[in-house]
Amino acid sequence: MADRRSFLVRLGWALGFIALAEAVWVVVSFLLPRRAILDDAEIFVAGPISDFAEGSVTAFPEGKFYLVRLEDGSFLALHRECTHLGCTVPWSEDEQRFVCPCHASSYDIRGTVLTSPAPRPLDWLPVRVENGIVKVVPAERQRRSEFRPTQVHTL
Ligand code: FES
Repeated sequence: MADRRSFLVRLGWALGFIALAEAVWVVVSFLLPRRAILDDAEIFVAGPISDFAEGSVTAFPEGKFYLVRLEDGSFLALHRECTHLGCTVPWSEDEQRFVCPCHASSYDIRGTVLTSPAPRPLDWLPVRVENGIVKVVPAERQRRSEFRPTQVHTL
């Protein structure tokens, strides 16, 4: 009788532990950011070249960057954080510039500072084009002191 009771107690603890583990897994899965659009090499698939008009700026909030297609058809990816204190900098289509809502720094379409207090251009991210698909590598975000043509992906 004692063996049977002991077995049932251990079974109860085991089932309770399994239920707790499942609950923790569900909560953690819910809280972690979704990464469905990132492949296993941390590459963000932005889309086909034809999705991006020349002279356009497209926001990718999931990747925290903007994909800029310059007038010559080349691509430039810019991180969305202001280089002053890190506020998210929206693109203003009317003004054709990035304008920080916190302290009014602004940047041109290449991320170059137009008005301070931003101390340097927006960070840039490498762009790749594979089989007509534009991809960005957020993990390779880079600081810069100025815009250089080598930061642009030319087709
Ligand atoms: Fe953008 Fe201060 S955080 S200007």
